[in-house]
Amino acid sequence: MRELMGLEGEPALVVGGGFGTGRELALLLARAGARVAVADIDRARAEAVAREVDGVALTGDVRDEAGAAAVVDGAAAALGGLSRVANIVGQVHNKRFAECDAAHIEAQLRMNLHSQMHVVQAAGRHMRRSDGGRGGAIAMVASVSGIYGARNHVPYGMAKAAVIAMAKGLADEWGPEGVRINCIAPDINATPRLVAMMPMGEDEALAMMDASAVKEGVPLQRFGRPIDLAKPLLFLLSDMASFLTGQTLVIDGGVMVRFPHRAGE
Ligand SMILES: NC(=O)c1ccc[n+]([C@@H]2O[C@H](COP(=O)([O-])OP(=O)(O)OC[C@H]3O[C@@H](n4cnc5c(N)ncnc54)[C@H](O)[C@@H]3O)[C@@H](O)[C@H]2O)c1
Repeated sequence: MRELMGLEGEPALVVGGGFGTGRELALLLARAGARVAVADIDRARAEAVAREVDGVALTGDVRDEAGAAAVVDGAAAALGGLSRVANIVGQVHNKRFAECDAAHIEAQLRMNLHSQMHVVQAAGRHMRRSDGGRGGAIAMVASVSGIYGARNHVPYGMAKAAVIAMAKGLADEWGPEGVRINCIAPDINATPRLVAMMPMGEDEALAMMDASAVKEGVPLQRFGRPIDLAKPLLFLLSDMASFLTGQTLVIDGGVMVRFPHRAGE
């Protein structure tokens, strides 16, 4: 299986790798034989996961161009190049659009679009063949909010739709450079951050979320877990996805393929 994945010895960076989905992906990459750098805005998180994967920890705020360049360049320097980059960073802030001032919209774009855009810009400089790189793969986390109408979180939806557009455009520009770029678009996911926000213990919170997924008709009868997102991200970074670029994989337990309006029930 390791030969099929083609990750053995590859230098890989997970941005937002200190927690939840990012941590799960760092663990999977290490299991597949990659040499892993973990970047996070939270130093303690990055260091804890780097220890788990016997890798390199980097700290920076990737919403800023300089912060993103510092973690990407730092990872490339520590690993002797970069061929796989995943970026998990993003966070929704719900607000009706009429109440969103310019500062709120700017903050959502910085968190959900600029954080991806700056990392991709910096990663491209290490990966493109014309810049001396060996090519490779980039995987970004978008959201179904960039595909559906993102009621009550329009700026987040705008940012995630732009991430999906970035993957398409760069697939075309950077395909000849040996760089593949894809996204996942998760629906509601029972991340540790969401679970921790609920008043009860973890098991009860997860059971409650899964019960609401059943009630809402999620075909797979639960909401996703970090590992459900980390596995498709690993696939996109691996040679299993060798002819796949510019695509967005919807990771939603089957919600999107249900017939709307519940007709026929
Ligand atoms: N949770 C959901 O239901 C859901 C649904 C759809 C999409 N998503 C997307 O999934 C991704 C992961 O979400 P999550 O809730 O699992 O994230 P999370 O908050 O659990 O983890 C994100 C990690 O990124 C780090 N980070 C945050 N800001 C950073 C910055 N500016 N620079 C560097 N590191 C930073 C955090 O410290 C954390 O370790 C996001 O892009 C989110 O938009 C989540």
